[in-house]
Amino acid sequence: MSEAAPTRRLFFALWPDDETRIRLARAGRAVGVHCGGRTVPAGNLHLTLEFLGNIPADTVDCLLGCGEAYKGSGFSLSIERVGSFHRTGIVWLGPAEVPPGLTRLHEYLHTRVVECGVVPEERPFRPHVTVMRKARRAPTTETFESIPWRVNDFALVESVASPEGSCYQVLRRWPLQSSDAGNRG
Ligand code: 2AM
Repeated sequence: MSEAAPTRRLFFALWPDDETRIRLARAGRAVGVHCGGRTVPAGNLHLTLEFLGNIPADTVDCLLGCGEAYKGSGFSLSIERVGSFHRTGIVWLGPAEVPPGLTRLHEYLHTRVVECGVVPEERPFRPHVTVMRKARRAPTTETFESIPWRVNDFALVESVASPEGSCYQVLRRWPLQSSDAGNRG
């Protein structure tokens, strides 16, 4: 019997800088305090751009090529919304508005990954940072003090299972163009 080809669980994401990560973690703890779930470790906080799933390991080079080829500008997020996905018990923080640069980056990846044989996520893009899983109650607040997040790059990330839960490892990061460099992003 032939062995199954090795797979890796991957996704493209915005990976916060350390200061933003600390602020997201702090806000996540505050909004989740009454929700009775499992707080996401600060080191795992991110915003998924395109979830790829368990894909053949030999697809990685193609995905790296997708990331490398993107030419678009950085953008600013203002993280000030709180919400939950009831079915999965997820509590999240999200941007007040979705800037065009984020929409463009998502649409690019969503379209391009097909060339690597990946079936893209069907659900509509709802940018969010998951701060708690398995919550038993929804958060009681909808807003909190805004967290500014200047996004200057994006990443291909691997989800690695461990006894303590999933741990995320950045495989590669690509810079976005500075907004004053021709701003066609
Ligand atoms: P979530 O935080 O809302 O669960 C790694 O699992 C990342 O990919 C998470 O940010 C997760 O979103 C996101 N993701 C999107 N679709 C997914 C799916 N079908 N299964 C698991 N994770 C998914």
